[in-house]
Amino acid sequence: MMQDEQKRAVAQAAIQYVPAGCIVGVGTGSTANYFIDELARIKHKIEGAVASSEATAQRLREHGIEVVDLNGVDSLPVYVDGADEITEHLHMIKGGGGALTREKIVAAVARKFICVADQGKLVGVLGKFPLPVEVVPMAQSYVARELTRLGGQPALRRGFTTDNGNIILDVCDLQILNPVELETTLNQITGVVTNGLFARRGADVLLLGADNGIRTIVV
Ligand code: A5P
Repeated sequence: MMQDEQKRAVAQAAIQYVPAGCIVGVGTGSTANYFIDELARIKHKIEGAVASSEATAQRLREHGIEVVDLNGVDSLPVYVDGADEITEHLHMIKGGGGALTREKIVAAVARKFICVADQGKLVGVLGKFPLPVEVVPMAQSYVARELTRLGGQPALRRGFTTDNGNIILDVCDLQILNPVELETTLNQITGVVTNGLFARRGADVLLLGADNGIRTIVV
């Protein structure tokens, strides 16, 4: 299967994890968009969706799916989202689309995180994809110096503002041998809203597109 076919196939497969009558957490990006298209087919069976970005909220509404405020939801059985990189331990780098903070919030609330990805996303060690870090604008220079001190090469994502009104620093050259530890370390830098490592709360299930079908990895 080509990359887009893999994305569509895993998005279709993720539907089986959506319980009838529930509110679904929905991620952001091209693979999540395929999932929204699939969700629209069963929209009469769900109560609504919590969106991880303004772009996702808009796409859900365009498909006639009700978008629900996370603060009005007690529990979220499932969250479906893509990844920029993912390991066999289901640790991820996310935020290529800049929605990492809201994605991390929705993932934190969800009981089950289903990651949907094409096979190019599976890596042995995280870090080839530059790690996105969302930063409060006035802290940009300070956070950049701290990231450099930790061995990274931060670059401002030009012309981009997050849904929360912040900037993104994309960080190359980080040695991500211990993603849980690095996620915590980066989040302790004052001015960092959050970083794109999803290791403390990784995925629970990976649906990975492959040439000959779908591989399911569960941790
Ligand atoms: C959005 O901020 C990201 O976390 C996406 O989930 C991630 O970049 C995967 O996107 P694609 O499905 O478009 O590769």
